[in-house]
Amino acid sequence: MDTSGQIAIVISLVIILVKIAVVIAICRKRAKIRRSIIVLPDVGFLTLTMDKFLNDMEREKPIRFSSQQLRIATDNFSHFLGAGGFGAVYKGIFTNGTPVAVKILNGSSDKRIEEQFMAEVGTIGRTHHFNLVRLYGFCFERNLRGLVYEYMVNGSLDRFLFKENTVIQFEKLHNIAVGTAKGIAYLHEECQQRIIHYDIKPGNILLDVLFTPKVADFGLAKLCNRDNSHVTMTGGGRGTPGYAAPELWMPFPITHKCDVYSYGMLLFEIIGRRRNLDLNVQESQEWFPRWVWNKFETGELMEFMLGCGVDEKDRETAERMVKVAIWCVQYRPESRPLMSLVVKMLEGGVEIPTPMNPFQHLAVGSPCAYVLDYATSNTFSNTLTGSSGSCTTPVMRKYEIGRSSI
Ligand SMILES: Nc1ncnc2c1ncn2[C@@H]1O[C@H](COP(=O)(O)OP(=O)(O)OP(=O)(O)O)[C@@H](O)[C@H]1O
Ligand SMILES: [Mg+2]
Repeated sequence: MDTSGQIAIVISLVIILVKIAVVIAICRKRAKIRRSIIVLPDVGFLTLTMDKFLNDMEREKPIRFSSQQLRIATDNFSHFLGAGGFGAVYKGIFTNGTPVAVKILNGSSDKRIEEQFMAEVGTIGRTHHFNLVRLYGFCFERNLRGLVYEYMVNGSLDRFLFKENTVIQFEKLHNIAVGTAKGIAYLHEECQQRIIHYDIKPGNILLDVLFTPKVADFGLAKLCNRDNSHVTMTGGGRGTPGYAAPELWMPFPITHKCDVYSYGMLLFEIIGRRRNLDLNVQESQEWFPRWVWNKFETGELMEFMLGCGVDEKDRETAERMVKVAIWCVQYRPESRPLMSLVVKMLEGGVEIPTPMNPFQHLAVGSPCAYVLDYATSNTFSNTLTGSSGSCTTPVMRKYEIGRSSI
């Protein structure tokens, strides 16, 4: 054999070896994903597998259910709990009596995204905190994609804030505010990989039997945008109008601080026990955050407290909540505090500096003016944000989140 023949053989061998190495690497990755997911057999779903199910729940791995199993558990999806941007939610119950909430996701299940879906679900299912709703498992079949969550007996916070016939004590509201902040702080600051929620609002704060708040739907924005199935209610940006931070609507970097903004808007609603926008009240009070800021700025918080029915014993706490809410909705993300600092401020562990006007940009002129102002301004940090540049480093840009990974 001449030299060129030998070279050709060597090249062919190298190509074959590289291909084998790639195949082995892919198989290992797939096996790793599979190892983190548990698949339940259909037949033994009833009694026997319940032990396994409970074991797995304790071992904190997300469980893979079949659509048949979800049908049985939800009595053929007969107990409808509600629906949002991602799909409908049904109550279910396992034979050992464990109640669950099954969220059926909109859109089709393309086989190509199965592994990516399972990897995301694996991450969400392993994210545990006292103030986060637990994900037990999921279903991924051609005609059904669903998520199985722990069932929260008192439903979502909006029911209690905005329905006239329900009254929650102020102390409980304060606990709900603190617990919610702790859940978000965990997602932002303590998870191995930071999770930005993108849709903090009263409908996504669920309450257990003791009214412990648990943040729901974290990780969903990323999971459901893989195939662009999430129908946003807003058309342009993401999140929900009234809670979404200004940068979500503009071509600027998006960071975890967008959740801090939404949390601030939620906090206003908790303080006022009303929706931030209410056209049925007198004009000056229609947009609650602005009204609160005006009262704060002019030193008339007492009038505000009386208007909101805050008892004297709760006034100091309420004032703290007002200041924190104003800090959280600052126009510039860099000026908003980290969620861990929000927790400390709400609990009274640290002094709260006097907040700046968060609505200044609204008074200056047209929206274009403040877009420009934002774009040309330098990042600044102050002691309140508890952050240097690294904490405000953009983690994603809007177009990157929306793009399919396939
Ligand atoms: N784990 C759960 N336990 C009890 N009820 C739940 C649970 N998850 C959701 N629900 C109920 O189902 C309703 C619909 O939830 P869903 O998350 O689909 O909509 P949403 O929160 O209003 O909007 P979004 O899609 O933006 O999150 C909620 O308002 C809540 O009452
Ligand atoms: Mg929700």
